[in-house]
Amino acid sequence: MKERLVIFDTTLRDGEQSPGASMTMEEKVRIARQLERMGVDVIEAGFPAASKGDFEAVRAVAEVVSNSTVCGLARAIEADINRAGEALQVNQNVRIHTFIATSPIHMKNKLRMSPEQVIEQAVKAVKWAQQYTDNVEFSPEDAGRSEIDFLCQVLEAVIDAGARTLNIPDTVGYTMPDQFGALIRTLRERIPNSDKAVFSVHCHNDLGLAVANSLSAVMNGARQVECTINGLGERAGNAALEEIVMAVRTRQDYFPCDTRIDTTQIVPSSKLVSGITGFPVQPNKAIVGANAFAHESGIHQDGVLKHRETYEIMRAEDVGWGANKLLLGKHSGRNAFRSRLKDLGIELESEEKLNAMFMRFKDLADKKHEIFDEDLHALVSDEAQVPEEYYRLLSLAARSETGEMPFARVVIAIGNSEQQAESEGSGPVDAAFRAIEKILDSRAELQLYSVNNITSGTDAQGEVTVRLQKAGRIVNGHGADTDIITASAKAYLSACNKLHSSLERTHPQV
Ligand code: KIV
Ligand code: ZN
Repeated sequence: MKERLVIFDTTLRDGEQSPGASMTMEEKVRIARQLERMGVDVIEAGFPAASKGDFEAVRAVAEVVSNSTVCGLARAIEADINRAGEALQVNQNVRIHTFIATSPIHMKNKLRMSPEQVIEQAVKAVKWAQQYTDNVEFSPEDAGRSEIDFLCQVLEAVIDAGARTLNIPDTVGYTMPDQFGALIRTLRERIPNSDKAVFSVHCHNDLGLAVANSLSAVMNGARQVECTINGLGERAGNAALEEIVMAVRTRQDYFPCDTRIDTTQIVPSSKLVSGITGFPVQPNKAIVGANAFAHESGIHQDGVLKHRETYEIMRAEDVGWGANKLLLGKHSGRNAFRSRLKDLGIELESEEKLNAMFMRFKDLADKKHEIFDEDLHALVSDEAQVPEEYYRLLSLAARSETGEMPFARVVIAIGNSEQQAESEGSGPVDAAFRAIEKILDSRAELQLYSVNNITSGTDAQGEVTVRLQKAGRIVNGHGADTDIITASAKAYLSACNKLHSSLERTHPQV
């Protein structure tokens, strides 16, 4: 029996720190349910002391997740740890992850603390956290640039204080794979009580080495990897969960451990995170990119047809490509619909909501013969944008003809009134946005516009993400429709609704 490699997913915490990727509580809960379904061991749900929204989101995730450990991040200070403990108290299976920087540059310039003070605070924090749970993780931030003797001293002290997991972050993505592997080996060999804790790694991707560094650490004894879906995260991101898991699974001849991840849930998870954050996945991205299993050259196609393994080291279906079961169509009933949503981990809070969603499902099924799981996720995202839609698209007419200026007319409900405007633009989407702006005058800056086809085929729904920025606040709006101009207008209005509403993002990026 192989040793377990613990998968610690931090999409909802470090991933969310990616500019523009902040999520609402409902979105976080939806992603957490999917991570649980995939078999992630630990879900880092947020940083409860960062904001009221983050606190509530961690609590909401802790309320619904039962098969994964739910973790909250806290600086090594009592007030932060108390917030994490309070947010997590609704669940028995929780972890507090506390951290303090240990590199000379961070201690001197950021913390303005001596090494002795840092050790004292780390030990105090680990002990303090144990009043909430005995599952405490400690991270020496910027370990990749910390001095080895000092790192050994801190880690030995926190193990004695009760830390069960020691997470070694390469916070700025600075180390090289051999170096990082050797660091993990040295720590395990030199720290006298190292056998009392699990060594974990948390690598950032500034030099494109996050996955390589993490795997090198695994070969040197790390038994937890911190990672995110699609490699989302601060700056260039974190190690990508799908790459770590599939490297270890595909090369079982090489790695001494394995994960308990249900790999068929990888692509659905990737699509869900990409849809919610509006961060598209590059086509040539390993495992989850649209071309990851596409063979273009004739020689490759011929080889694969004759014997699959000639050019394929993994099977597309094993990571969830094509696994989006076609179960629903226009003749499906309410019960089949409800039960598929339940299978997908989507729970609607009332019968009324279910009815509204069912009507929208029927409308979609009229336009599109086959409804896939991704379509249902898109419907829910579209429906769950804001509790009250202040601006609502009533109708849209768009015209685009070769040689003519594209044109759009929109009718929008604003509260109880109705307004109409029309505009020309460089394309029908541009014309629609200009017409909407004539009415709303939001003066928000459009930071991102992206369209993804949710499933394949020309009758597929287009899922549009619009990111708007106003007065330092960044919001993502989503819209899905088989008509991408309509999807675009809905996405624009959904972003405007978020700017308008008091609905706070869980981690406002201001
Ligand atoms: O990158 C980092 O150092 C972190 C810590 C909080 C673990 O995210
Ligand atoms: Zn990080």
